[in-house]
Amino acid sequence: MAKDGLSTDPYKGVRDFYPQDQFVQRFLFEAMARACESFGYEEYAASILEPADLYRAKGAANEEIANEQTYTFTDRGDRLVTLRPEMTPTAARMVAAKRRELAFPLRWYSIPNVFRYERPQKGRLREHWQLNADLFGVAGIEAEAEAIALAHRVMLELGASEHDFEIRVNDRALIEAGLAEAGVGPEEAHAAMALLDKRAKLADFDEKLAVLLGSDRASALAGYFERVTSTTRLEQLQELLLAQGVRTMVIDTAITRGFDYYTGIVFEVFDADPSNARSLFGGGRYDRLLELFGEDPIPAVGFGMGDVTARDFLESHELLPSYVPATELSLCVLDPEAMTHAIQLASALRSQDVTVAINYSCKKPADQLKAADKLGIPFAIFVGAREVESGQYSIRQLATGRETILPANRIADHLFSSAG
Ligand code: HAM
Repeated sequence: MAKDGLSTDPYKGVRDFYPQDQFVQRFLFEAMARACESFGYEEYAASILEPADLYRAKGAANEEIANEQTYTFTDRGDRLVTLRPEMTPTAARMVAAKRRELAFPLRWYSIPNVFRYERPQKGRLREHWQLNADLFGVAGIEAEAEAIALAHRVMLELGASEHDFEIRVNDRALIEAGLAEAGVGPEEAHAAMALLDKRAKLADFDEKLAVLLGSDRASALAGYFERVTSTTRLEQLQELLLAQGVRTMVIDTAITRGFDYYTGIVFEVFDADPSNARSLFGGGRYDRLLELFGEDPIPAVGFGMGDVTARDFLESHELLPSYVPATELSLCVLDPEAMTHAIQLASALRSQDVTVAINYSCKKPADQLKAADKLGIPFAIFVGAREVESGQYSIRQLATGRETILPANRIADHLFSSAG
């Protein structure tokens, strides 16, 4: 019966991770880490808390995120604190702080949780985990090629094949040239860019653009986008990607990316299945962000990939791993007199790397087997007076019901060979 207790719901827009969910998280994170490390990226981390100023400087972020989507509060010492809405400013801050000690090119990755006060919906939550992989110190197009090849590698590590996704790439220089050609000055370019970023999402995009720029300039811009569909840099990038077997890049001049800090190539990875329409990755070149810290610029390229859309991707392509608990063996104690013996046996097995959970309940064998089965534990051993006396144990495989009788020192080997 429901009582008037506290709600068991998590806070709006965030998730609880029960073991089955955390299992998938771990699968995702391990695939991400493997891909990054194969390209020579080293893991770093930082606190969730950042001074709010980090996101308020001009050019630091995305105005919508900084003004409307951050969790910002005043601490007890009157400091304005923000829960990080993304990792890029933190990474830039850390690199700027130690730039003289760090060796470039510098390759870093991290899988932080980040917070954005958004309206929760499919693919968008208020807390998500986000792989960030960033390469600092490479000015040439090889850096973009590496970032995109790494994004591609992450997808393959997740079990995707090339036709499951598409990497859409654009060059901001192309958009800027278009704006200049249409006569849009630098004062209006920012608003125009923000609108262009929403091009695919807004049904009334053309009208909105005409309101912003006037119909002449809006149609000049539309004409430009029809005529100009690539740049030399994009062609070079395509070539470098093909050279390493990445065939999934497509040029898409509708990709602009919302952040002010991007300065050149930008890209997003999309699921080829339109039912999971949100972008899986977003990234690009941001050569000027480190200047915010009073440092000389350091060229930088990187991307973020969120766990929410990644999980949706795995689900829609039937690539979700099936849950296997960390525990291999349930040690079921049959009566209190056998308890010490069972605890000793468990301890001996753990020192041989077997993962063992003891059922202390002394309930009926069938009940204990049911509990083990519910947890998904593949093996069980009963320990009662007979086992204590004989030193022989029956190892039961729950899925098949098969039992094997062995002395204590052969149990570990048996489990490892049966686990395949
Ligand atoms: P972003 O496009 O804002 O870029 O986020 C990157 C990815 O994080 C998105 O493609 C999406 O998968 C996921 N994501 C973003 N917001 C949410 C949300 N509210 N709920 C669930 N998933 C979300 C950045 O954050 C840049 N800092 C990435 C970057 C790194 N650029 C250079 N280095």
